[in-house]
Amino acid sequence: MANDLRLGVAGLGTVGTSLVRIIQNKAHALEKRCGRRVVVTAVSARSRDKDRGIDLCDTEWFDDPVALAESDGIDVFVELMGGDSGPAEDSVRAALKAGKHVVTANKALLARHGVELARSAEASDVSLNYEAAVAGGIPIVKTMRESLAGNDVTRVYGILNGTCNYILTRMEREGLAFAECLADAQRLGYAEADPTFDIEGFDAAHKLAILTSLAFGCEISADSIYVEGITSITTADIQAADELGYRIKLLGVAQRTDTGIEQRVHPTMVPRSSAIARIDGVLNAVAVDGDAVGEVVLAGPGAGGNATASAVLADIADISRGDRAPTLGKPADELEPYVRARMRKHEGGYYIRLSVFDRPGAFATIAQEMAAHNISLESIVQRRRAIKSDAPGDSHPSEPAPVILITYETTEEAIKEALAAIDAKKVIADKPQMIRIEKLT
Ligand SMILES: NC(=O)c1ccc[n+]([C@@H]2O[C@H](COP(=O)([O-])OP(=O)(O)OC[C@H]3O[C@@H](n4cnc5c(N)ncnc54)[C@H](OP(=O)(O)O)[C@@H]3O)[C@@H](O)[C@H]2O)c1
Repeated sequence: MANDLRLGVAGLGTVGTSLVRIIQNKAHALEKRCGRRVVVTAVSARSRDKDRGIDLCDTEWFDDPVALAESDGIDVFVELMGGDSGPAEDSVRAALKAGKHVVTANKALLARHGVELARSAEASDVSLNYEAAVAGGIPIVKTMRESLAGNDVTRVYGILNGTCNYILTRMEREGLAFAECLADAQRLGYAEADPTFDIEGFDAAHKLAILTSLAFGCEISADSIYVEGITSITTADIQAADELGYRIKLLGVAQRTDTGIEQRVHPTMVPRSSAIARIDGVLNAVAVDGDAVGEVVLAGPGAGGNATASAVLADIADISRGDRAPTLGKPADELEPYVRARMRKHEGGYYIRLSVFDRPGAFATIAQEMAAHNISLESIVQRRRAIKSDAPGDSHPSEPAPVILITYETTEEAIKEALAAIDAKKVIADKPQMIRIEKLT
């Protein structure tokens, strides 16, 4: 039997404690699967005194994660602290330089420094594995890096944030407002006290940045992602989507176009019959369109201690067996520069909800502006305005009424210009709501 595989784990929070617990509880099964004993020999966290519910008696403690990363007593440095700089960055760099394999769940670190870190791993001839960094427990990194190697990918998209999917699912099922669902998500531990990172789409963007590089063999470019969160979505939009045969999901989409690669995170109308539309609650899903295989969809838990530790262990098992793939699917120096496709050139259908003043000619103005920008309308639905009093015949003629437009395929530029022109004509009361429709089978 080969020597033990000695792990140094930095970060003993949600994921770190789950990882240590699983390794201790499944020692025998892991030994069989990994070809040798997998042992946590050293750990690091901020507070030494905290009771973490795991046995650390025979484990060396390091106050400094960089010292742990460089320690002669480990073969693999497992970074589970988080953050795109500071101790996470310093310790991962130190580990790679010291010739240690690295496993991390840190999407922020990879999205910001992935290519540089990949180079460093190659220079030291070690693995840098990060399955848990994208969609938690779903094995999408290995699938893209290895199992889909025979494909040219045309698009990768997914539900990459469980908090947003939970909120949108509750809004749809129970007709509740966004704020109420967010408060529940916080109460249940699905959302942070400061939920900005999740609900504004930044968390999904980090994961998308990594998926884009894996899908198209290009450098990671997290700063080039168009990001829009879910805070503007109302129950009126969700209800209208349902009536039109769609559901609203926060999607991350990366797609090759004639002008470059589009990367976008935004609320999206997806056909109710599509696989992605059926992913509910905190689950995540990723779909990959490959030229040989067609569409592959993977769904599962995108977060949680055990689910994330499961992905970390898969990376550890690969290292133990000597299975190594280039960090981003090919050698770092062969990654193509990322060429950004501008969002204004994005082509697709659009859902638009307008609050239209009940004035003669208002409807005609909207139709004229759409036509002037070469936008064809698939449907127009005018809703009755809300009746504010019980008085018979009280129809509040001065109040605006919702109008919902679905366009055929057009460009983002045309939509933005048409909506600005409609706004300038003073026929609508509020900022228009615009939700992109994703073409899916
Ligand atoms: N939680 C999930 O479901 C999930 C899913 C996918 C990916 N991830 C990723 O996994 C990583 C860890 O997430 P988590 O949820 O487990 O985080 P967490 O619960 O906040 O735990 C962070 C751990 O890092 C330790 N730490 C922080 N700064 C440190 C320092 N300077 N030196 C040593 N230790 C330090 C903390 O120590 P103390 O305990 O002493 O404070 C804590 O144990 C992040 O990159 C996250 O994005 C998490």
